[in-house]
Amino acid sequence: MNDSSLALLGGTPAITVPGPHFTWPPITEADRQAVARQLETAVSIPDRSGVVADLEDALASYLGVRHVVTTCTGTAALHSMYAAAGIGPGDEVIIPALTFHATATPLFHLGAHPVLADVDDRGQLDLEDAARRLTSRTKAVVAVHLWGLPEDMDALTSFADEHELMLLEDGSHAHGATWNHQKAGTFGTASAFSLNGPKPLSAGEGGFIATDDTEVYYRVLLHGQYNKRCRREIPATHPLARFAVTGMGLKLRIHPLAAALARTQLGHLEDRLAGRQAVAARMCAVLAGVPGIRLPDLPAAARTSWYALPLQYKPAALGGLSIERFLEALHAEGAAEADRPGSTCPLHTHPLFQAPGALLPGYADGQGEAVDEFPTADYVHATTLKLPVWDHADDVRLADAYTTAIVKVATHAKDLL
Ligand SMILES: Cc1ncc(COP(=O)(O)O)c(C=O)c1O
Repeated sequence: MNDSSLALLGGTPAITVPGPHFTWPPITEADRQAVARQLETAVSIPDRSGVVADLEDALASYLGVRHVVTTCTGTAALHSMYAAAGIGPGDEVIIPALTFHATATPLFHLGAHPVLADVDDRGQLDLEDAARRLTSRTKAVVAVHLWGLPEDMDALTSFADEHELMLLEDGSHAHGATWNHQKAGTFGTASAFSLNGPKPLSAGEGGFIATDDTEVYYRVLLHGQYNKRCRREIPATHPLARFAVTGMGLKLRIHPLAAALARTQLGHLEDRLAGRQAVAARMCAVLAGVPGIRLPDLPAAARTSWYALPLQYKPAALGGLSIERFLEALHAEGAAEADRPGSTCPLHTHPLFQAPGALLPGYADGQGEAVDEFPTADYVHATTLKLPVWDHADDVRLADAYTTAIVKVATHAKDLL
């Protein structure tokens, strides 16, 4: 065997650098010091002060919004956003069928119904399909900027206006992504973001809600922050002020150590986005035209956060080689981080969406989604390969090694048939 042979068939792997090849977020000395300082300052912050206020101010200024409220997770942020937007029993909310389940699941805890709509072959919400699913109970539509690529927000804004729907956003993959120079998370009534582990901006665990609407802000506080924070921030004359002590009874605050990490990480976000942009451009330049691999369409209006580089695998161009076998060959080449989306998948395939009533009283079983109703979400999920996008100079070699491995497997695909 010579080293142009596939490693899966006994050749030399394209990548021999020991793993892990991608870890996120990069932890700097400043992160360590900020967390250590926070340990000595406060490990519980019940009001809007200290590092929580610093982080919320910095996020609000970064996004250019009036209010930001941090939470313990992105799931909690989505829950607070929906509750604050007044989504309640019987309301329907249009959700793209292809996303992480938490875009939709908080709705079950408000008595509302996620109504899934198919996506197009780029994984973006299919507005024609969404229009077919509107009823008199539809209250909102949610934009999810999957893998960091912003939705077409001109189209989504027009759609929401035309059908008199509230526009909400799940920006969990898309910190700093823009559409026509406007940041993801600033187009609708409110947006929710995750700050979990591998997200472009990470607190380890955390999340936040962003809104310009002060009434929504008060309700976000009442949903998951209660007592001191609500007493200090909701004016005593406001009709909801009397609920301040209990709020809606949930406690969803961010941990101050997580807030300290997110605050220092935010200082690097723009540099890291620029670094990812450069590395992604380099990866795409190598992969353009490789048989069996379709690059994502990047509209001129979009700046993506490159949470991942999603590639569409086209088996027909490689003699019908299955994606499983292609990925197996890629892993044998040492590209351990090349992957297929796992938990970000067509939501109608989850038992929770097919039979919510088994876990959630009040949701009759059988009202779940029919399994063949979202053909494009199924197709996009079944054909997506994703790669990490590295962000700084040292990792360019790894990015190059990964694209070399893909070219190698695609070029030798016939050996695997
Ligand atoms: C699109 C999307 N929304 C929401 C979430 C939930 O965020 P968290 O894990 O912080 O609760 C995730 C997490 O991966 C996500 O990918």
